[in-house]
Amino acid sequence: MTMVLNLRSASRTKTRSIRSAADIIRSGGIVVFPTETVYGIGASAFNEDACRKIYRIKGRAPDNPLIVHVSSMKMAKSVGDIPARYSRILSHEWPGPLTVVVKAKESVPKTVTGGLRTVAMRMPDNSIALELIKRSGVPIAAPSANISKRPSSTDATNAKRYFMGKVDAIIDSGSTEIGIESTVLRLSDLSILRPGSYTPEHVREAFGRWPKMAFASKGVSRPPSPGMKYRHYSPEKPIYLFIGDIGRLPSIIKRSGSSGKFTFIGSKESCAAMKSCSAGVLDLGNRSRPHEIAHNLFSALIALDSKKSKFGIIESFDESGIGIAIMNRIRKACSNKYFSDEKGFCNLIEG
Ligand code: TXA
Ligand code: MG
Repeated sequence: MTMVLNLRSASRTKTRSIRSAADIIRSGGIVVFPTETVYGIGASAFNEDACRKIYRIKGRAPDNPLIVHVSSMKMAKSVGDIPARYSRILSHEWPGPLTVVVKAKESVPKTVTGGLRTVAMRMPDNSIALELIKRSGVPIAAPSANISKRPSSTDATNAKRYFMGKVDAIIDSGSTEIGIESTVLRLSDLSILRPGSYTPEHVREAFGRWPKMAFASKGVSRPPSPGMKYRHYSPEKPIYLFIGDIGRLPSIIKRSGSSGKFTFIGSKESCAAMKSCSAGVLDLGNRSRPHEIAHNLFSALIALDSKKSKFGIIESFDESGIGIAIMNRIRKACSNKYFSDEKGFCNLIEG
């Protein structure tokens, strides 16, 4: 049975609820909890059986390691070796949407690291998550709360759809602030393995140099982050990325005879323009506010599946700042299927 703990408003029972969730973690159970990025599905990082259960519930490949969530620098140092020169920087940048990959301590089970010698960890910037970790007294291993390959949950309603009856508790605190997962940064060579809202500019500012971008790994035989080789974030319906002048999309659609057959996912401005080809739309927010787009992206991908249309079309966004992470998630959601204003609608290219 899954206990749902409603913490959407500042309730008087908040402390009690978090305490029961922490008891569950300590006794080897699984708790879905909010972070500032997306919801996580968590267990004690030191309990191998509980961590194994997370892989089973998610249908996750055993070589795709989990992120360990900590509530203090002291706890972080019990999980991985943080190079001395980065310790001060991390105390400053954490809590926040930055995951670092460092050498793992012996005590971290291989189940958590997917058999690697390194471990990914972060301190989430969410008071419920921090309190849960503190009260559990152990670091919490937690991948994003989604069934493998499906979009991550940015609210508890969706987390319940995925996990009701499969986990011991779900903490419901409404929708998450950021909406896409943390940036994964390998400290040994300052490489971003997965882009997030902590941008290359943030790395440059805090760490004093530009990171390498190791996630654009098309053609790389051995992906730097195990998660990068798996399909991700996909709705069940096919979805195509449109590249080019959005103003030309309605006429391309009309020519192809697809009017009314698809749902358009895009900025408020583009959604308005798509009405002319009788498209259902999912509005991601104002184009000039990329954080709003990131916040709404996964819930729109999830909503696509409940639409009557046959497929989805999503527009592309400017690849700078958080836009790099937005486009990374969109490409994966589309499994690299795209079409352009030059090549037209009939030439979908599998990448
Ligand atoms: O925002 C987030 O990071 C969310 C919340 C819940 O904190 N968590 C999350 O976890 O997105 P997950 O498991 O969905 O993604 C973890 C990513 C995967 O791409 C995985 O391959 C990579 O981190 N990763 C984990 N350990 C690694 C390691 N030792 N070396 C390289 N990549 C690693
Ligand atoms: Mg994930």
